Amino acid sequence: MPILITGGAGFIGSHTAVELLNADKEIVIIDNFSNSKPDVLNKIKEITGKDFKFYKIDYLDRKELEKVFEENKIDAVINFAGFKAVGESVQKPIEYYKNNVSGALVLLETMKKYGCKKFIFSSTATVYGEPEVVPLTEECKIGGTTNPYSTTKLYIEQILKDIYKSDKTWDICILRYFNPIGAHESGLIGEEPQGIPNNLMPYIVRVANGELEQLSVFGDDYETPDGTGVRDYIHVVDLAKGHVNALDKLDKEKEGLFIYNLGTGIGYSVFDVIKTFEKTTGQKVPYKVTARRAGDIASYYSSAEKAYKELGWKAEKTLEDMCNDSWNYICKNKKE
Ligand code: UFG
Repeated sequence: MPILITGGAGFIGSHTAVELLNADKEIVIIDNFSNSKPDVLNKIKEITGKDFKFYKIDYLDRKELEKVFEENKIDAVINFAGFKAVGESVQKPIEYYKNNVSGALVLLETMKKYGCKKFIFSSTATVYGEPEVVPLTEECKIGGTTNPYSTTKLYIEQILKDIYKSDKTWDICILRYFNPIGAHESGLIGEEPQGIPNNLMPYIVRVANGELEQLSVFGDDYETPDGTGVRDYIHVVDLAKGHVNALDKLDKEKEGLFIYNLGTGIGYSVFDVIKTFEKTTGQKVPYKVTARRAGDIASYYSSAEKAYKELGWKAEKTLEDMCNDSWNYICKNKKE
């Protein structure tokens, strides 16, 4: 029985589609290409040598979504559909709440209608808000989110907890992603931010290839070893593999609600990333230190122990791999 991937043409969705196909799972992808390109679907087929069904629909369109469930006996759903730009979410809260929260509700209602209760949800480490301690374990307090994007994830987590409380036959896994970077080693799929990137690695690769002039390092006066912000960067392929393990867990347990951090457990500073990028790729990254970015947190990284103990999953790729694969992707997909 196939697994439905919503947002399967996006950055994390496409890499997860590859890993599921590699694990011989049958998949169905839906996407409306609001933040992705149709070409990605061919790339997934090229990498895996496998085929799958695709529907170009918006997951808020209940009728179209029901058609997917009518035509396929969906076993489980992995939800990657949703807007994800932090800054944009501050400007467009209504759009974010509607697309992310209402979209998830339409999806969950449709699943219930068709008796499909196995669900994996893409959440974010930012649901922890400003951390009281690091590393962050799944037991750490959540809340105090600083932007609508993160709040949509927090709300959906709560919705899932309430659904499970009301009906224990649901089988739900919430995955809290730390900072996914990198790209598939083939260079065929990767991250495609719209416009000027906000996130560190997409910015670095565009400075290295001359598309952008220089990187602004947002503050070097944090209470961290070198003064710059510290994050838990995780290779997107490792992250994608975590979904295969999560699915196996749901298959085994039959019912329950499980929450896991997907991170490496290691924190790297902005300067660590710049230095590692320069060393592994041989490219210079001109930068200047500027003021702190509003809303940024000094340091957060995961405890990755629970996912290792319960899912048998741990990140394998290094920061060098992340730098190399991000660079390889941008070189192979240079805009003319
Ligand atoms: N940074 C810079 N210069 C830049 C961009 C980022 O110095 O041009 C610094 C930031 O200040 C921070 C670190 O690099 O210390 C990482 O910043 P990112 O923007 O890459 O990542 P964030 O931790 O802010 O955001 C992460 C994910 C996002 C996700 C967000 C909320 O990377 O994709 O959490 O979940 F949307």
